[in-house]
Amino acid sequence: MSKLVRFGVSLDEDLLDQFDRLIRQRKYTNRSEAIRDLIREELVKKEWTENREVTGAITLVYDHHARQLVNKVIDIQHDCHTCILSTQHIHLDHHNCFEIVVTRGKSKDIEALFQKLKAVKNVKHAGFMMATKGKHF
Ligand code: NI
Repeated sequence: MSKLVRFGVSLDEDLLDQFDRLIRQRKYTNRSEAIRDLIREELVKKEWTENREVTGAITLVYDHHARQLVNKVIDIQHDCHTCILSTQHIHLDHHNCFEIVVTRGKSKDIEALFQKLKAVKNVKHAGFMMATKGKHF
């Protein structure tokens, strides 16, 4: 970890009031921690827009009785096997499955994988979470 540096920020009072309300709602104990998180979030977004090596998670909810859907989901995952670290499949009930696909690779490849999975007919929900390999923070 690099050394801690303090810096001052000038803000409009109303904006600071709104920020303080927001960080209380989000359970931050102080402004510094909230500002650090906001900065990290932006840096992670930047990694994704610059097509850097990143990690992320894709979630899917689907009915496994739709066999063509299941085959399609598996085919798409095999086509991108180098960017998938693991998948976890949970049987939610008699019909519904919840799948978590943990990914690592170039952000554009991961986003393309997500778009292909989301577009499979009868997928009930597809979610996406950007993360970072954490090397730069
Ligand atoms: Ni299942």
